[in-house]
Amino acid sequence: MSFLQFDGWISRFSVVLLALVTFLTVSQSGVAQDAKPAEVAPVSFYRQVRPVIQRHCSGCHQPSKAGGKLIVTSFEALAKGGESGPGIVPHKPAESSLVEVISGEKPRMPLKADPLKKVQVELITRWIAEGAKDDTPMALQDNISAEHPPVYTNPPVITALAYSPDSKLLAVSGFREILVHNADGSGLVKRLVGRSQRIESLAFSLDGKILAAVGGTPSLFGEVQFWNTADWTERSASFASDVMYGGSFSDDSKTFACGGADNSIRLIKVEDMTLLRKLDPHSDWVLGTGFSVDGKNLVTVSRDMAMKLSIVENGQFVDNITSITPGALKGGLMAVRRHPLRDEFLTGGADGEPKLYKMIRTQVRMIGDDFNRIRGYAPLPGRIFTLDFNTDGSKFVVGSSAAMTGAVRVYNTEDAKLLFELPGHSRGVFSVDFRPDGAQIATGGFDGTIRLFDANTGLLVKQFVPVVISPAVASQK
Ligand code: HEC
Repeated sequence: MSFLQFDGWISRFSVVLLALVTFLTVSQSGVAQDAKPAEVAPVSFYRQVRPVIQRHCSGCHQPSKAGGKLIVTSFEALAKGGESGPGIVPHKPAESSLVEVISGEKPRMPLKADPLKKVQVELITRWIAEGAKDDTPMALQDNISAEHPPVYTNPPVITALAYSPDSKLLAVSGFREILVHNADGSGLVKRLVGRSQRIESLAFSLDGKILAAVGGTPSLFGEVQFWNTADWTERSASFASDVMYGGSFSDDSKTFACGGADNSIRLIKVEDMTLLRKLDPHSDWVLGTGFSVDGKNLVTVSRDMAMKLSIVENGQFVDNITSITPGALKGGLMAVRRHPLRDEFLTGGADGEPKLYKMIRTQVRMIGDDFNRIRGYAPLPGRIFTLDFNTDGSKFVVGSSAAMTGAVRVYNTEDAKLLFELPGHSRGVFSVDFRPDGAQIATGGFDGTIRLFDANTGLLVKQFVPVVISPAVASQK
């Protein structure tokens, strides 16, 4: 060791010493909380690194779609690396390709997206420098994949249902997966295992080519999944750091919209899943979306009680469709559906009353008015979570959830006549869907049972649990 180096070593040593002394002094003076203890604690893979990678990388690096043969959805897979070998060399960030691809002026990854923030890159670098340890709690280690699909000990709460446009299939939300059943309830066709724990919304494009799922894992990520119905391959992308809701396609199947727990609306290009734009007209969770017939406008509903109109092309907010008079609105709105043939939107929410609105205001707004409202329908008990029109819009079905019960009703759209109360719903109903051929209605909710009703008589045709229930012991592997 030369003198110079020794000198350098001494001075670096003194800096560390000084920092340490300062830290101790600060701790003693009781200001420790402000002394950034995070700089001392090692980086946690589970709490700090994993959320970044989940959010920015796992859309393209997951079992069904592994860019560069790299999978990042579990620690094991990430450590194994991709085509060019392990992406992580513990203690050696400079030799880890994971660090290389996210660093520099124009980082290679994430592909086609903004680079990670500097602090995120530093976090990942430091985690590797510290030995790249996996601190995922045992109970949370993710061993679910298409090869190891979820095992159920209880029926999962059903939050979303969607019939395919040809009326042959019924897609049902599960835990970490979508269950595709024959529409007549005769059996399971396919299990679509994805990454989102919760599927909050399911929608087929009108051309039948894509089944879209919107959901996520609370406080971690919000995700859109597009499944090609021809071969059930998946494309997915994460657009938010919390769960997303209320997905819908434009009638030409080219644009997709969804809301979210971050109060935002996202418009997504179906072809390549790029984010067209993010809209923020609401002040609370956006739970439902629907396009106008020509696809140029978007109508959204939110827990902020309002139904709002925006322009798809530029994201501009146009108007509140619901009243702006203080006190006129009663509770958050949770679902919206466009009339299949006209720009009229049916909504429902906390006050249990289904309401039909016209999209475009034809008269100057006056305080106290609810001018766009066409009509209301007899309220259901509890809150409305779900509604759907039949194919010509002459009838609709609506489902609600109250403290200890649920209800599903079918109304005539025009004369507001209550046609049927669909029986057997003793718990909350979170999803209903009218089969496109008009013959049946499917319902699902808290009790995890799918019920199929004859849409012309209101009588129960069939009921079934959409998953296989394993005895509790078998699932504890
Ligand atoms: C939009 C899709 C997309 C996103 C998002 C994305 N990647 Fe990639 N990644 C790819 C594709 C495709 C390849 C293979 C082609 C290439 O190397 O450019 C790849 C290759 C890689 C490789 C090289 C694998 C190997 O062994 O050759 C690494 C490492 C990597 N990505 C890391 C990341 C990280 C880390 C992120 C998040 C910060 C990320 N990627 C986000 C698509 C993506």
